[in-house]
Amino acid sequence: MKRLALLFLSLAAAVGLQAKSAPVNLIPQPKEVTYGTGVFKAAGAPVSFDYTLDKASSDLVRAFADRLSLLSGKPSKVTAKAGKKGFVFTKDGTLPAEGYNLMIDGKAVQVTAADYKGLVNAFATLAQLLPEDFFREAPAPKTDWVLPQITVKDAPRFGYRGFHMDVARHFFSVEEVKKILDVMTLYKMNRFHWHLTDDQGWRIEIKRYPKLTSVGSVRKQTLVGHHKRSSEYDGIPHGGYYTQEQIRDIVAYAQQRGIVIIPEIDLPGHMVAALAAYPELGCTGGPYEVRQKWGIATEVLCAGREMSLRFLEDVLTEVMDLFPSEYIHIGGDECRKQEWEKCPFCQRKIEELGLRSDEHWTKEQYLQGYVTARMQNFLAEHGRKMIGWDEVLEGELKPGATVMSWRGTKGGIKAAKMNFDVIMSPNTYLYLDYYQSQDTDAEPLAIGHYLPVEKTYGYKPLDEIPAEFQSHIIGVQANLWTEYIASPKHLEYMYFPRAMAAAEIGWTPEENKDFDRFKNNLNHHFRILDILGVTYCRAVFGQSGMR
Ligand code: ACM
Ligand code: ZN
Repeated sequence: MKRLALLFLSLAAAVGLQAKSAPVNLIPQPKEVTYGTGVFKAAGAPVSFDYTLDKASSDLVRAFADRLSLLSGKPSKVTAKAGKKGFVFTKDGTLPAEGYNLMIDGKAVQVTAADYKGLVNAFATLAQLLPEDFFREAPAPKTDWVLPQITVKDAPRFGYRGFHMDVARHFFSVEEVKKILDVMTLYKMNRFHWHLTDDQGWRIEIKRYPKLTSVGSVRKQTLVGHHKRSSEYDGIPHGGYYTQEQIRDIVAYAQQRGIVIIPEIDLPGHMVAALAAYPELGCTGGPYEVRQKWGIATEVLCAGREMSLRFLEDVLTEVMDLFPSEYIHIGGDECRKQEWEKCPFCQRKIEELGLRSDEHWTKEQYLQGYVTARMQNFLAEHGRKMIGWDEVLEGELKPGATVMSWRGTKGGIKAAKMNFDVIMSPNTYLYLDYYQSQDTDAEPLAIGHYLPVEKTYGYKPLDEIPAEFQSHIIGVQANLWTEYIASPKHLEYMYFPRAMAAAEIGWTPEENKDFDRFKNNLNHHFRILDILGVTYCRAVFGQSGMR
């Protein structure tokens, strides 16, 4: 119950409800809203739910009632039979997946949800409509606990609304991961892409290969400043990893918030941390060190050794055991080929497989295609689907793969036209490690570029996708790489408010998007983030720099 209560602690949002017919300040903007006049008195209102609601859903309803009672100072009675007054929660399986309807008049708040996530989404909306004190830890009995009289009919535009966190370049604690999950729940996000491994650190316990974490999770020191400008190191070891027990706990925590975690094991490039632990898996046999600087390593996994491919399958076996998600991400980005060109094992494998360079790709690119296909098959044998970064289009990608477009939109457009499912996460709109303001002296160090929230907000995922292929765009994702992000505060600063813009891209019909409305709503949402202790960037209001 404590964790459920925490869900409501963290479902952040705000609204100015002074006026009797106050406009609401929802993010993301719903599909359909009809505004009435007047309010519903929420404090002490009875709460009831359809007795057929599953346990997880009814627990959520009870936790909401507990929280409202605690904060408004007037207890709400809970009944497991849908009533006619007060808050009434029912399920309607005919609504679109993750959708919900909300009808608030003077007597009742009728909430109908399609499924569990639909109910979570309905709560996110209710939380955004209630006074912002709903997010305080301590009771605030003086608040006028009312809701505006409105009708909302809501469902997502895209089924995949993702956010990504790189915990390899810098490690973030279980608590910080949960905090981010909490905030993303409020914005109706539903996929958390967890980038768990990279050259600079291996962050997931794998029982069969203990050195992945005992050796691979720690780098000796870190390059200070920008890789283009600096060659100084801080001399301080950086490390950390998640035990399997912690991972199971986070997966369950996310599930409760309607968020599926998609783990990424980046392969066959971006694996220096693993090679430092098990050098025999590389082309040269090492020695290797967990990488201390940013930029792309030329050392990659040896694709020619059966032992290395078996290693990947063993790792994926434990990963699948920990993560119930339909999708597993296998990375595939930026795999340098210099070592494969020289390695006798890799060249022998190329011969064996009969791979040849042609006008499209080199034989080494086809070799990566072989590794990708093998992992895809392995996952499929276990009932899972593979996602790869858009480099997996190099060589020959097998049907059934899902492509994550990051080098702009062209990979995604190409993949959709080839009938692959696509998640759009173009760096040009959705890379949250870019600067948010042009006043870079005032900003914390970022990787470069300039991506203000208005640009992110303006992204149209279906641009340049012919109508007949648009159904292949299954969603969008905002990515946050942490080369220059070492603290939770900085992490949050880079996410917000751009992740909220990404949430609206994923949720709201294009015709309902309106940057001026979104920007205006941010005032209220920033106040809620303040209550929750979440850091955010105010560049949209002309104020640069992290406070
Ligand atoms: C990536 O940004 N290398 C996927
Ligand atoms: Zn090799």
